[in-house]
Amino acid sequence: MLKAKMFLDYEYRVGKLDRRVFGSFIEHLGRAVYTGIYEPTHPSSDEEGFRKDVIELVKALNTPIIRYPGGNFVSGYNWEDGVGPKDKRPKRLDLAWRSIEPNEVGINEFVSWSKKVNSEVMMAINLGTRGIDDAKNIVEYCNYPGGTYYSDLRISHGIKEPHKIKVWCLGNEMDGPWQIGHKTAVEYGRLAVESAKVMKWVDPTIELVVCGSSNPWMPTYPEWEYTVLDLTYEYVDYISMHIYYRKRPEDDTLTFVAKSIEMDNFIKTVASVCDVIKAKKRSKKTLNISFDEWNVWYHSAEKDRKVEPWQFAPPLCEEDYTVEDAILFGSMLITLLKNANRVKIACLAQLVNVIAPITTQPGGIAFKRTIYYPFMHASNMAKGDVLLTKVVSPKYDCKLYTDVPYVEGVAVYDEESKGLVVFAINRSLEESTLLEINIAGDTKYSRAEHIVLRDDDIYASNTLSNPDRVKPQSSIFEIKESKKIEIELPKFSWNVLRFTPS
Ligand code: AHR
Repeated sequence: MLKAKMFLDYEYRVGKLDRRVFGSFIEHLGRAVYTGIYEPTHPSSDEEGFRKDVIELVKALNTPIIRYPGGNFVSGYNWEDGVGPKDKRPKRLDLAWRSIEPNEVGINEFVSWSKKVNSEVMMAINLGTRGIDDAKNIVEYCNYPGGTYYSDLRISHGIKEPHKIKVWCLGNEMDGPWQIGHKTAVEYGRLAVESAKVMKWVDPTIELVVCGSSNPWMPTYPEWEYTVLDLTYEYVDYISMHIYYRKRPEDDTLTFVAKSIEMDNFIKTVASVCDVIKAKKRSKKTLNISFDEWNVWYHSAEKDRKVEPWQFAPPLCEEDYTVEDAILFGSMLITLLKNANRVKIACLAQLVNVIAPITTQPGGIAFKRTIYYPFMHASNMAKGDVLLTKVVSPKYDCKLYTDVPYVEGVAVYDEESKGLVVFAINRSLEESTLLEINIAGDTKYSRAEHIVLRDDDIYASNTLSNPDRVKPQSSIFEIKESKKIEIELPKFSWNVLRFTPS
């Protein structure tokens, strides 16, 4: 058995955890909306056509904010197509995903759905094909109380109260040549700042996310961040980050599950660029991060190439997540939590069917993928302050990295209830690890819950025919010595240790 140590002190904290790091994302892409959250002919559908079985699964994830409507989709989207009487809404070609968009679901339906799942909407605007005028109009439609053209238009659509959408994304991945209306950093930075100005003039209470790089492998990274922030710094509140990890044919498991190390570097670099601009501008404002797309994404690539274009709700980006994926996913979650001082919003991309923790069968069941569980655990149990968590673990070298710790973890402490939760992964394929948790401080614990997600087959997944093949197991253990707690983390596992004070 391997041995690792974790050191915690309630006085040493990274910072307060913003619950919006457990955000998610629904794009008009594939079957996320149509036959995902919305399927009027499904037996469980409510009066608005939303699947109640999916609502229940989303509610259990306790996600406080959901980004919408894209993604790449938003860069060609006219939001006006999706409001007003449904029978008058146009069908459009969605050039981003080469699909047919019927516009049966638009802003008002999505806001209504988000309330059913207890979430807020994080709205992205189109800065691909559109610009300043539209940026101002959409905020007026959504957030202005009434008595003006767009606010009255909303009221005429049956929505009397403004939606009061707080967080807005200034476009999506504008550095990417694949984006409709792709721009250089200067072109984008100028458009973003002028759009930001008018949006905040319409509603000064909103918060704005400016586009960072689409990933750290972009040739323009991190100069993009520098140039864009130089042009927008005082008008925006967050910079976006995106990352998806894939397993390349040459990656073995130990290499694949170590990839979150890059995510940590990525966050630190973007935070540094924000701080350089802060210093350059002699600004008092610290700009934080909205990590508004993150996940594992590679299983569906081959299948997607065979999907015929110009279909309604084609099965795109449908990932069959394994236990192996859940371990990398868990380490990504841990990385986000460890950076709680700078990452204030994060969106698991995405939520239903498309690179998602939830899969639906049209007319049939909805089920949980392996990655559903780590997200549900963290989102429901992490509360309070993230502690500076020191882990001393045996390490390994792999194809891409050296000195990868087998055990990674983070602790979150809730001052009010004195509850402590530790999230940890064991990357070892061969051995379980005895983790010794050393806690400085007065709180005493006599019992704890240990939740484990693992499987003898690391490629096991949940499928339509066997939706509960992989699920977590929970046990209670007694604690003899509150300051030095020993617990065995099984090989290749995601773990939650939940301590409640005696
Ligand atoms: O989440 C799927 C796609 O990935 C989004 O549309 C885009 O922003 C990113 O490239």
